[in-house]
Amino acid sequence: MPSALFESLRVGGLTLANRIVIAPMCQYSADGEGSATDWHLMHLGNLALSGAALLMLEATAVTPEGRISADDLGLWSDANEAALGRVLESVRRWSDMPIGIQLAHAGRKASTRVPWDGGAQIRPDAPRGWQTVAPSALPFLDTEHPPAALDRDGLIRIRDAFAAAAERAAGLGLDAIQLHGAHGYLLHQFLSPLSNRRDDEYGGSLANRMRFPLEVFDAVRAAFPAERPVSMRVSATDWAEGGWDVDQTIAFARALQARGCAAIHVSSGGLTPAQKIPVGPSYQVPLARAVRQAVAIPVVAVGLITGFEQAEAIVSTGDADAVALARGILYDPRWPWHAAAALGGRVKAPNQYLRCQPRGHPHLFEG
Ligand SMILES: Cc1cc2nc3c(=O)[nH]c(=O)nc-3n(C[C@H](O)[C@H](O)[C@H](O)COP(=O)(O)O)c2cc1C
Repeated sequence: MPSALFESLRVGGLTLANRIVIAPMCQYSADGEGSATDWHLMHLGNLALSGAALLMLEATAVTPEGRISADDLGLWSDANEAALGRVLESVRRWSDMPIGIQLAHAGRKASTRVPWDGGAQIRPDAPRGWQTVAPSALPFLDTEHPPAALDRDGLIRIRDAFAAAAERAAGLGLDAIQLHGAHGYLLHQFLSPLSNRRDDEYGGSLANRMRFPLEVFDAVRAAFPAERPVSMRVSATDWAEGGWDVDQTIAFARALQARGCAAIHVSSGGLTPAQKIPVGPSYQVPLARAVRQAVAIPVVAVGLITGFEQAEAIVSTGDADAVALARGILYDPRWPWHAAAALGGRVKAPNQYLRCQPRGHPHLFEG
């Protein structure tokens, strides 16, 4: 039986060589003004040789106050665009792996220390801190400085910033955009009734809570070339009483599909400290399966997918069309090579490395 994990997949106008994608991972290593550094060149250069089908760049803020930390990557300025352009030009010189970008706004979860410094909120009057914004003036933790509730002008400003970043992404030749609608960041804050208590047309009913994320989707879709896919990453549940859940996610996924969304990437959680997550291998895969059964566009599963047979089973049994790896591919950046060797698949290896093909796997590399 040929491996399902190593079959190609069509996502909008993009063809992926296999079903393994690299999940977006913040590196907190920009220059303090949102611009990429040599770290990005090393990190992305390494992952671009992994044999995965798609490299998704980390959550990239569309405005300065949309960064999680002051060290986040951004794409709001000419300097940001030029710095990322230099990194991409170097990576592309040596790898033809498609590269996408995750566009994001952190909302009330912005203005924090980097994770290796504890990740706590930095208050607006402290160095490297700023006033956060959100659908409602509700902090993530009761002890935190609350966000300012966005008014109509604020919503338009952020929607337009997403579209402007999408135009810059198009100019950089990026192959895909993923909108960050997961993990308790701004778009998810609009979706969840736990963080959205607005009484205007952007809060209350499900249709109202979906309105701003869908407006952002439409603006980004219109700003990015039609043949290049725009997808959405969602948290399929808040894992909390009274929160966002799978049924609402399915309604959102269908609305996105109707607007030309190319794929849904199904994660979960991150909205509330009250979440109770049953963490374990493949713990989010049933959520991906539920969404996949409700839509006709590709669905990506993620979360503690680490085994080759585990990944093969997720794709071959129809739980999801593709798997995304985050921590597992940092730990083993040749994971797709090893998976191909174990499952009888083939991967593209750079010419410089062709001589390392193992004797027992003479057809592993496509060359
Ligand atoms: C270092 C690190 C950075 C991350 N940054 C992002 C990010 O920028 N955007 C995002 O949607 N998820 C982010 N995540 C979540 C991952 O994309 C992924 O959903 C999660 O780690 C579960 O997958 P895994 O078990 O394969 O690590 C990050 C995870 C890690 C470990």
